[in-house]
Amino acid sequence: MAGYLVEDKKKVTTNRLIEMKQQGKKIAMLTSYDYTMAQIVDGAGVDVILVGDSASNVMAGHGTTLPITLDQMIYHGASVVRGVKRALVVCDMPFGTYQVCPSDGVANAVRIMKECGCDALKLEGGEEILETVKRILQAGIPVMGHLGLTPQSINKFGTYAVRAKEQAEAEKLLNDARLLEEAGCFAIVLEKIPSDLAKRVAEEIKIPIIGIGAGKHVDGQVLVVTDMLGMNNGFSPKFLRRYADLYTVMTDAVGQYVSDVKDVSFPNDSEGY
Ligand code: KIV
Repeated sequence: MAGYLVEDKKKVTTNRLIEMKQQGKKIAMLTSYDYTMAQIVDGAGVDVILVGDSASNVMAGHGTTLPITLDQMIYHGASVVRGVKRALVVCDMPFGTYQVCPSDGVANAVRIMKECGCDALKLEGGEEILETVKRILQAGIPVMGHLGLTPQSINKFGTYAVRAKEQAEAEKLLNDARLLEEAGCFAIVLEKIPSDLAKRVAEEIKIPIIGIGAGKHVDGQVLVVTDMLGMNNGFSPKFLRRYADLYTVMTDAVGQYVSDVKDVSFPNDSEGY
């Protein structure tokens, strides 16, 4: 068996993630948006699969995460859940489904859980959405927080640059992490913030801190699967490590197919009935 494939086939739970932090075991998290990719990602041993609202960018071609709808997230989430045996599946609540008021937030959260069959939800923000986070938790739904560069607020930020470089924003982020932990969240994603700040949060907060562009002193890492597989050759932020060049592999394969069809070398006699 390849070294990266896990022997442990037991379903990952939110409690197991907290135990992993206590035992100093790092958490590997990746996004997925469909059944086939989810089967590969789960089979390779990823602990947490995020049905990210980055589907809006990488699946639908939008410029931001804002346009994706609740129905579209439910479609992606249910497709991923059908492909997963071991990983914890977390689904993003899309923009507009939890910011209006807590009762809307709970109703939409319940709908995602019922229709996707996922294990938990992720919401962006701290103090501003705390009441909603508490109400969703009271409904028995595990919540993962998301602080730092929260892409649903891109119009407020006006830039995808690193967040919380200034002391006031760093203190607010730390306080938001404390509030999310006290409320009962099981983990928090920190996106694109200075490594020293992420380290401080991971040391103080007892629930797992998962970073993306937040350095190595956190409890786990998350990347967008299509980015780390090199399927999108136009996106290369500093934090991204590419583990494959699928853009080239896939383009070559499709190009070869086109050429084979045109010169009638596909199909050959053994590829017919
Ligand atoms: O939607 C997403 O892919 C995310 C990750 C970048 C954490 O929220």
